[in-house]
Amino acid sequence: QTAERYAIARGKFQVLSQQHLDHFRRLLPSSGSVLTAEEDGLDGYNVDWLKTVRGQSRVVLKPSTTEEVSAILRYCSEHSLAVCPQGGNTGLVGGSVPVFDEIVLSMSRMDKIISVDEISGTLVCEAGCILERISDHLAEKGLRMPLDLGAKGSCQLGGNISTNAGGLRLLRYGSLHGSILGAEFVMADGTVIDVLSEMRKDNTGYDLKQLIVGSEGTLGVVTKLSFACPPKPASEAVALLACDSFEDVLCLFREARQGLAEILSAFEFYDAASAGVAREHLGLSSPLLRDDGTESPFYVLVETGGSNARHDEEKVHAFLERMLSTGRVQNGTMATEPSKIKALWATRERITEALLHDGYVYKYDVSLPLRDLYGAVEATRERLAGHPGVTRVVGFGHVGDGNLHLNITSPQYEEAIADLLEPWLWEQVAAARGSISAEHGVGFKKRDVLGYSKSPEALSLMRQLKDTMDPKGILNPYKTVP
Ligand code: FAD
Ligand code: MLT
Ligand code: ZN
Repeated sequence: QTAERYAIARGKFQVLSQQHLDHFRRLLPSSGSVLTAEEDGLDGYNVDWLKTVRGQSRVVLKPSTTEEVSAILRYCSEHSLAVCPQGGNTGLVGGSVPVFDEIVLSMSRMDKIISVDEISGTLVCEAGCILERISDHLAEKGLRMPLDLGAKGSCQLGGNISTNAGGLRLLRYGSLHGSILGAEFVMADGTVIDVLSEMRKDNTGYDLKQLIVGSEGTLGVVTKLSFACPPKPASEAVALLACDSFEDVLCLFREARQGLAEILSAFEFYDAASAGVAREHLGLSSPLLRDDGTESPFYVLVETGGSNARHDEEKVHAFLERMLSTGRVQNGTMATEPSKIKALWATRERITEALLHDGYVYKYDVSLPLRDLYGAVEATRERLAGHPGVTRVVGFGHVGDGNLHLNITSPQYEEAIADLLEPWLWEQVAAARGSISAEHGVGFKKRDVLGYSKSPEALSLMRQLKDTMDPKGILNPYKTVP
């Protein structure tokens, strides 16, 4: 079905045979490391989180060591078998599931924490470690993972690096390109590249680990990682604010950067339609509803993290008072206790989950100049106005990063809606010199529209890199590289 919708042909790879399976069972003797469609049912590995892409893999391999990953890839390369590396399968662009019958290489068993250096703040671990488990482990040692996102309970660090996930704290800690210190990865022919440095500085030629950041399983399989982790802030606060216009949201952002300065750790927004979907499907109601019970047009979530609770709270209070007095904020609430902080984050973090309950989600993740960010949502509403199939158009995202999440839902996929959205939206983004994928990556869904954000020369260099590192094209074929 997918192949028909996207009109692509299967690559000239071998089809899995009993002989291949027997070989994999010899390579991975421990129980549960080789799963088959016939015996285990592989829907959880073949279908993506959004339930919009479905592959037909007949086997899932779960290696426990780098040596096993290397042996699998060497064999697949020699026998022209295509492979789809998979982490927590929370990716939103169809990159983590097979398109046809690619072998799924699940990294879930490679989940050891190798070391944490509390003095330098260095974490070394295997790629299959789940983000939330690592964050909790680091917190016990007074450290913090520089990445946080709504999928933290299932996504893996290897998946985060492979997608260069942005998330909720990029504003404070920068992208993973800056936090990664080293990596071990296995190339398509089985060669292990060990650049697992724990040093902050290493200018010994090309920075090879950066090649795998955002490469979405197309250049190598990540097996180990090291990260620079900042200290966990001793004091944290979150404010949820209600605004009447997006102009007010932007004004607040400018003031927050100036007034909260070094303690500002996140600045997120969501609109009334986003709050509405979370309330409708998940029962999450806003603490800031208006007197008549309606949603505010916009909500802003400001998070701070510092080292001195009194100083930080004073700063946040002064900021809030200033904003309330200027009329840029209509209402607000603040929390400093962990359970209340979590409750204030809940709606923002669970919009993605709530949208799925509408049926089909047309998901867009774009970078735009800040002043144009919400204009894209309004223009989309106008374009789709009166279309009977559309359930809602919502806008939310990472204001601090100029990253809009524009989502449209309908009970089921409708080509007429998709045709109204594309290429129209890509053209708007290209005209603003924005990015057609700010943080979710390219995967299967965006591969053919990369030209809206990258020049032909840049795309050709991407292709050359792919051909050099994976000459037979067995790693995540049909994804990322046009
Ligand atoms: P998968 O989904 O399993 O894989 C993603 C890609 O990486 C695939 O191309 C896969 O082949 C490759 N891959 C995975 N592991 C490896 C490996 N070890 N070696 C080589 N390649 C590998 N993204 C953001 O950027 N910011 C957000 O705020 C954010 N929030 C989210 C919230 C929700 C509720 C959900 C469902 C998703 C969200 N995402 C977000 C999208 C997603 O990119 C991240 O969840 C995450 O980075 C994917 O990690 P994963 O382990 O699930 O990887
Ligand atoms: C988010 O910021 O919540 C994520 O990127 C998920 C999404 O865009 O749906
Ligand atoms: Zn996001």
